[in-house]
Amino acid sequence: MSETADTIFAELMTPAGHADPYPIYRRLRETAPVFKSSIGAWVVTGYEDCRAVLRDARLGKDWEGFMAASGRSDWRGHTSLEYGATSLLFANPPEHTRLRGLVSKAFTPRMVEKLRAGMRAMIDGLLDPLEQNGGGDLLDALAFPLPVTVIGELLGIPVGDRHEFRHRIRVSTATLEIGVTTEQLAEADEAAVWMRDYFADLVAEKRAHPADDMLTAMIDTEEAGDRLTDEEIIGMGLVLFGAGFETTTNLIGNGVYALLDNPDQLQILRDNPRCLKNAVEELLRYDCSIQITGRAAFEDIEFGGQGFAAGDSVLTILGAANRDPARFANPDRLDVTRNEVEPLSFGSGVHFCLGASLARAEGYEALSALLERFSTIELAETPRYRDQLGFRGLESLPIRCRR
Ligand code: HEM
Repeated sequence: MSETADTIFAELMTPAGHADPYPIYRRLRETAPVFKSSIGAWVVTGYEDCRAVLRDARLGKDWEGFMAASGRSDWRGHTSLEYGATSLLFANPPEHTRLRGLVSKAFTPRMVEKLRAGMRAMIDGLLDPLEQNGGGDLLDALAFPLPVTVIGELLGIPVGDRHEFRHRIRVSTATLEIGVTTEQLAEADEAAVWMRDYFADLVAEKRAHPADDMLTAMIDTEEAGDRLTDEEIIGMGLVLFGAGFETTTNLIGNGVYALLDNPDQLQILRDNPRCLKNAVEELLRYDCSIQITGRAAFEDIEFGGQGFAAGDSVLTILGAANRDPARFANPDRLDVTRNEVEPLSFGSGVHFCLGASLARAEGYEALSALLERFSTIELAETPRYRDQLGFRGLESLPIRCRR
C-alpha cells in the first residue's frame, strides 16, 4: 500500500507510535501539513497552523463533535464522558469566559510566587528518601507527590485522600484520547463516579465548615449571587485537580528523562544554573505531556489551502508543532540554550493553560533541587512510555543518584 497521510496517521495509534511519535509526526508534516483523516477530523501538524487554529474565534470547542470523531456518539450515560460537555475545558465564550473568570484569580503569577517558597521545602523533604536509598522511581518519589500536594493544598483536598486520585485520574485521561476503547471507558466511568461522589461530599463538607481554600472560595462566589452551581463546582474541582497533577508529573518525568538521555545538556545546566528557566521551556517543547488538543469549525473556513466545513473537527498536534523545523532549528535536538522557545505545550488563545505558571514553577523548582542535591544522577534502567498518545508520560523513571 502506498504511503498516504492517512496511513501515516494510523501509525500514531499503534504501540510503536505511542512509544515514539516524533518521526511519524515529521513524515505526516512533510506529506500533508493539513489533511482530512479517515476518522473524519482534520489533522494539523505545523507550529504556525496549530497556533492559528487555537487562536481563531471561528473555531472552538465541540464536545459532541470530538466524541463523534472518537467513535463515541454514545457518550451520554457514561459519567466519565458527560463531564466533558459541561467542563471549562470544553466550554465556549461567553460561558467559558464566565467559568474561567471565577477561577483565574487563583492562578496569577503573584499567587504562584507565594506558593513557590513552600514548594522548595516540600521538594527537599521528598528528595531525602531518594538520597538515603541511592535512588528510586522519580515519579513516585517526586514527580507525583509534588504537584498533587501543591494543587491539593490550593483546592483543599485532605492530605490522606490525595493518593486515591492518582490511578483514577490516569485512567480518566483515556477519555481524551482518540478512540477510547469500551474497556477503558468502563474503567474511566468507575473512576468518574467515585471522584464525582468524593467531590460532592467534599463540597458539602466545605459548605458546613468553610476553609481557606479554592473550593470554599468557589462556594462563596456562588453565594455572592454568581450562580456557580454545585455541579459546576464539582466539575471545576475535578478539572483543576486532574489537570493540576497528571500533566505536571509528566513534565518532571519526561523532562528529567530527556536530560539523562542527553548528558551534555544536563552538564550545561550544572555549569550554568541560570539556563534552568529556559531549560524548562525547552523540555516542555521537546517532549510535552499533552500532545494533542482540538477544536471544531463554527463556520466554513479556508485554512492551509484546504476548506474546513462548519462542524468539522480539527486536531492540533502540539507535539508535532513543537518539532516543526520551520519554527525550530534542529527540532529533534534537545538544546537547553535555545532562544525564545515559546512551545505550544500549554496551548494558545482563550483556553491557554490556566496552570502554566504554576507548572513552570514546579518544573523549575524540582529540577533545580535535584541538580543541587545530587552530583550524579543516572538512569537505573531504560524507562517505558505509557501506551497512550494524547497524554504522554512514563510508566516509571528508575534512577540512581548520589550527593
Ligand atoms: C506541564 C503541565 C501542563 C501542561 C502541559 C498543560 C497543558 C494544557 C493545555 C495544552 C491546555 C489547553 C487545552 C486546549 O486548548 O484545548 C490546558 C488547559 C488547562 N490547564 Fe493545563 N497544563 C499543565 C498544567 C496545569 C496545571 C498545573 C493546572 C492547574 C492547576 C492546569 C489547569 C488547566 C486548566 C483549568 C485548563 C483549561 C483552561 C481553559 O479551558 O480555559 N494545567 N493545559
